[in-house]
Amino acid sequence: MGLHIGDTAPDFTQESTEGTIHFHQWIGDKWAVLFSHPKDFTPVCTTELGRVAKLKPEFDKRNCKVIGLSVDDVASHRRWVGDIEETQGVRMNFPVLGDADRKVSHLYDMIHPNASDTLTVRSVYVIDSNKKVRLMITYPASTGRNFDEILRAVDSLQLTDRYTVATPVDWKQGDDVIIAPSITDPKVLKEKFPKGYRELRPYLRLTPQPGK
Ligand code: BEZ
Repeated sequence: MGLHIGDTAPDFTQESTEGTIHFHQWIGDKWAVLFSHPKDFTPVCTTELGRVAKLKPEFDKRNCKVIGLSVDDVASHRRWVGDIEETQGVRMNFPVLGDADRKVSHLYDMIHPNASDTLTVRSVYVIDSNKKVRLMITYPASTGRNFDEILRAVDSLQLTDRYTVATPVDWKQGDDVIIAPSITDPKVLKEKFPKGYRELRPYLRLTPQPGK
C-alpha cells in the first residue's frame, strides 16, 4: 500500500554525499523535506538541486532539513555536484542519497512504473519532527518543481499546527488566515483571535495571521 499523509515516514539507512544517513536519527527534532530526482547529470535536476542549495537558509529558518535522492550511486553524485556548483553558481550544502539499489525509492513509492520502470519521478515528502508525513507532491520528470511553493507549504503546516487556523488559496506569510469552523464559542474566539475576524459566511471567517 502507498504512503499516506499522517503515516510515519519509513526509516532507512542509506549512503549519501554527506556519509551514511540513518533517516529518523538524521531528522532528529527537526522537520525534513525529502525529494527525489530521476537521474544524475540531467538538466532539470541540476537546476532543482542548485535552487534548493540557494534556499537552504530559508529551510533552516523553518527548522527544516533538506535531503535529495537520485537513483545513481554516491560516486556519480559526487561527480555531478561539480557541474551543479559550476552551472548554478552555488555550493551544495545538503546531502543527496545514492539510491542505486532503489531501497528508499521503493519504500517511498517514488517509482511509478507507467512513467518509468527504473527511474524515480519527482516526489516531495514533507515530514514533521514526529516523523509523520505531512505533505506529498508528485511531478513528472519533465516538470521542475517550485521550491518556493514547498517553503510556503511548510509555513502553512507549521502555522496551522500552532494555531487552530487553516490557510486559504495562495496564502503567504502575513496574509489573513481562516478560523477553523469548529470554533464557535464567542469567548474562545475572542481569546484565540484578539485581533478580531471578518465573517463572510458562518463557515468562512478570516483573521489576521496569529503571531505576527
Ligand atoms: C531532467 O532532469 O532534466 C530529466 C530527467 C529525466 C527525464 C527527463 C528530464
